[in-house]
Amino acid sequence: MKITIIGAGRVGSSIAQRVSEWNLTNELVLLDIDADRAKGSSLDIHHSSAIEENKCIIHGTDDYKKSSGSDINVICAGVPRKGDMSRLDLLKQNASIVSEIALEVEKYSPKSKLVVITNPMDIMVWVVWRKTDFGREDIMGMGGILDTGRYKSLISNELDVCPSNVEGMVIGPHSDLMVPLISKTRIAGKPISNIIPQEKIKEIISKTIDSGKNIINYLGDGGTKHGPSAAAFKLIKTIATNRKKILPVSTILQGEYGGKDLAIGVPAKVGNSGIEKIYEVDMSENEKKKLKDSITFTREKIKKLEKMDL
Ligand code: NAI
Repeated sequence: MKITIIGAGRVGSSIAQRVSEWNLTNELVLLDIDADRAKGSSLDIHHSSAIEENKCIIHGTDDYKKSSGSDINVICAGVPRKGDMSRLDLLKQNASIVSEIALEVEKYSPKSKLVVITNPMDIMVWVVWRKTDFGREDIMGMGGILDTGRYKSLISNELDVCPSNVEGMVIGPHSDLMVPLISKTRIAGKPISNIIPQEKIKEIISKTIDSGKNIINYLGDGGTKHGPSAAAFKLIKTIATNRKKILPVSTILQGEYGGKDLAIGVPAKVGNSGIEKIYEVDMSENEKKKLKDSITFTREKIKKLEKMDL
């Protein structure tokens, strides 16, 4: 197993640390346009892996040749947002960075699976799909796993139960238009709408949506990394170990949920061949409407991007 992480910033270096700590691969490449940053981080992680008694070769580089033949490429290079920005404000700049990277990945690792993190993430999944010959099953965005984690953490705090006992999922785009599936959220088989008052549920939803923004505002000089790297790692591990887990993953829709040729997060079975099956869940009328609106919005953003010369 060979894994390459492109973008050795906050999120990329944190994912690299998790991959090495879990001994998931014997060869890890940390690649960045800033070669010194990649080299510095990879040396640091290599020392931690020696202390953990793992044997992993870690390359820090700006050269895609070193990534050749990777089984999984993770794209987290680009510009992060500041407190007052939305993820969509990064559209043009990151689309151009991600399209360049996608072509390099295709050249050096044509059989790879791709995990996309760069924001606006769902549109970056589309950029990779559009720019390359990778199939839709090969390209996956991890934002729904992060949003679901945030949603479950809030419910678990409210009810004082372990987050793993919260059955539920956030689908839709990794943006303010995400759709927490309240109608499908259960604790010990009971719908949360029978356990948590409506007002509190509304608060949980708005806190889920604002989680990233709140963290960025607290930190002042930086973005999130622990939650995103945990979500990315969950997806990477599911692919690498062929776990066939059903996760909320951003993927190109081909008619599912009424979307076509655009990506949003939907429940999908993931294994070492990437996305193996997309599940269409039953939703309440309100959830259906929200998802439909998010698809329309994503389609408009993609149309705008198609007009730009990347
Ligand atoms: P960062 O600024 O710490 O790191 C970005 C890295 O990308 C830098 O090291 C930079 O040198 C590198 N880079 C820029 N252009 C490059 C290129 N053409 N080739 C290779 N490397 C290049 O940013 P951070 O916080 O790690 O965030 C990275 C991206 O991930 C941002 O777009 C951010 O919005 C996104 N993000 C997405 C999340 C999600 O849930 N989908 C969560 C957190 C961040």
